[in-house]
Amino acid sequence: MSVVDEIKERLDIVEVISSYTALKKAGRNYKGLCPFHAEKTPSFVVFPDTQSWHCFGACGTGGDVFSFIMQQENMDFSGALRLLARQAGVSLKPQTEADMAEDKLKKRLREINERAAEYFHNLLLNSIQGETARSYLDQREINRETIGRFQLGYARDDWQSLGDYLQGRGYQREDLLAAGLIIEREDGGHYDRFRGRLVIPIRDERGGVVGFGARALDDSTPKYINSPQTPVFDKSAILFGLDLAKGAIRREGLAIIVEGYMDVLMAHQHQIANVVASMGTALTETQLRLLARFSQRFALALDADTAGHQATLRSMALAQETLAQRVVPVPTPRGLIKYESRLDVDIRIITLPLGQDPDQVIKENLALWAELVERALPIVEYYFKIITSELDLDSPKGKAEAARRLMPIIQEIGNAVERTHYVQKLARLVRVDEKTLLHQAGVKSKKAKRRKEKKESLPDREEFAFGLEEYCLFTLLKRPHLLHSLDDALRDVGADGLNVDDFAQAGNRAIFASWQESLSPKDLGSLREELDSTLHPRFDLLLEGPRGTPSANDDQAEKALIEGGLRLRQRRLQRLVEELRFLQADAEGLGEIAVEEYGQIVDSYRSALWGISQALAARSFFGRREARIPGLVA
Ligand code: UTP
Ligand code: MN
Repeated sequence: MSVVDEIKERLDIVEVISSYTALKKAGRNYKGLCPFHAEKTPSFVVFPDTQSWHCFGACGTGGDVFSFIMQQENMDFSGALRLLARQAGVSLKPQTEADMAEDKLKKRLREINERAAEYFHNLLLNSIQGETARSYLDQREINRETIGRFQLGYARDDWQSLGDYLQGRGYQREDLLAAGLIIEREDGGHYDRFRGRLVIPIRDERGGVVGFGARALDDSTPKYINSPQTPVFDKSAILFGLDLAKGAIRREGLAIIVEGYMDVLMAHQHQIANVVASMGTALTETQLRLLARFSQRFALALDADTAGHQATLRSMALAQETLAQRVVPVPTPRGLIKYESRLDVDIRIITLPLGQDPDQVIKENLALWAELVERALPIVEYYFKIITSELDLDSPKGKAEAARRLMPIIQEIGNAVERTHYVQKLARLVRVDEKTLLHQAGVKSKKAKRRKEKKESLPDREEFAFGLEEYCLFTLLKRPHLLHSLDDALRDVGADGLNVDDFAQAGNRAIFASWQESLSPKDLGSLREELDSTLHPRFDLLLEGPRGTPSANDDQAEKALIEGGLRLRQRRLQRLVEELRFLQADAEGLGEIAVEEYGQIVDSYRSALWGISQALAARSFFGRREARIPGLVA
């Protein structure tokens, strides 16, 4: 049994979800207020039989216990796997030798880094040579408590001391090289990477030391020397200070992102604990996702030199949209489902006074810092501010330039109300009417916008298209006895019978599930009553069948259903293989233990796919393209 199955078997979804939202028994199922959107009447249903959940309200999403935890805790799949494994008492053991070796290496590297941090810290506190670093910190007004809390250290100004110390402690030279603490010489010898510097341990969000930043104690360059990329240190995936900041970030519902180590040290020293640093590089989406586990509100401190921020801002705006609408594949015993979660991600920009960084502002004027945070602007507002300060909006050239720069950013906003607001604002600013602005922004982006709007509309108002899913569902509703033939055909190719996951559209899923559960599937009237009323329009349209289609006889309908069902399964498996490949790559990158398991699932899907393609080759009801039935939308 796979770990995922084992966890599911041991945990009851009702119990898991009950700890997040109050559930009441309603027939065989449980109902409650949806934890993912604000509502007054419960539209969130948990189905103990299928161990799944669904929100029939504004979200329209659903899934299994994994997707619930991912959405609720804002975690990726492996995070949810760990959390649920703990709850279920299932241990996640590395599976392949390579995984185990990799795990062991990482463990050793962390341990070595811990030892090195202690070594540097001790030198800073107690050694004579450490005096230069102590007085440097004094001059920077970093106090003893901060030194202790961040375990700051000092690297002696010689070539061998750390390497010798750690090797004397029994650590292997190869591992010290891999940790990036020592550097190999051409003659085969080696020397310490950090020398004569203030050393700042960099920790992951759980507090393990993964690398170091080391500052020169004078004006020499480079100002900082950092650990290189290692199996445990990826600068673009780590935020400095997060281990100490995460509690405050969660409590305050706000994460403040600064650039430098010193900024974080000074903020925390002044009890501003929700501050982390991106360590001088452009903030990545990985970093934002990491932070999003603790808060959906971010404030990014940028210096007053606006010219350099275009790229940063653009990537922030994009990240905001992708974070807000993320699609996550979630494994279930029968395959994967995709769910889209919508976060209210709010990224704001803090503008610092010219020539100052957070370190200075906090040290010199705490009240000003608080005010700057308070006055942080949403990204688009910030753009407006820059553009109005940089361009002459009375000149035609300035106006055109403002529209050219702002429209692409405005059009990326997913929320229609917000987007309209900013178009209007821009129209007022450049005194051009909205239609002209939208027209100039180009037809292509308008299409993209329309797609987004469609996505936003509520389930009951979405456009109804008669596709393959609808066709199969329609046939089953009208001729339930044909399900056996389809299930037989699926089993013939070594696959399971038709199930709810063969349908991707949420409404279809819900209708199929109810149909399957209902005692007398023939009684369509009472089936309709069992459905949530938001599904009634879809149900009615399904029963009408594809428009302009002559009614088929039982024999034709059977052929069509079998082929349609095979194609649905084929589509689903193809999608799953794709998604698993992505999960697998992800897992490999993260050194996750699930790689092997994903591999096994992929293999089983591949063999089913092969069977299906064989079976389809022998059939031709729909021909190569499934749009042969008039009125059927491919
Ligand atoms: P800063 O130059 O703003 O440094 O670079 P700082 O942290 O404020 O340090 P002080 O106040 O000058 O002492 C911001 C961040 O960029 C990275 C470091 O993470 C630094 O904290 N950086 C900067 C480097 O990695 N290497 C460098 O040479 C410079
Ligand atoms: Mn600084």
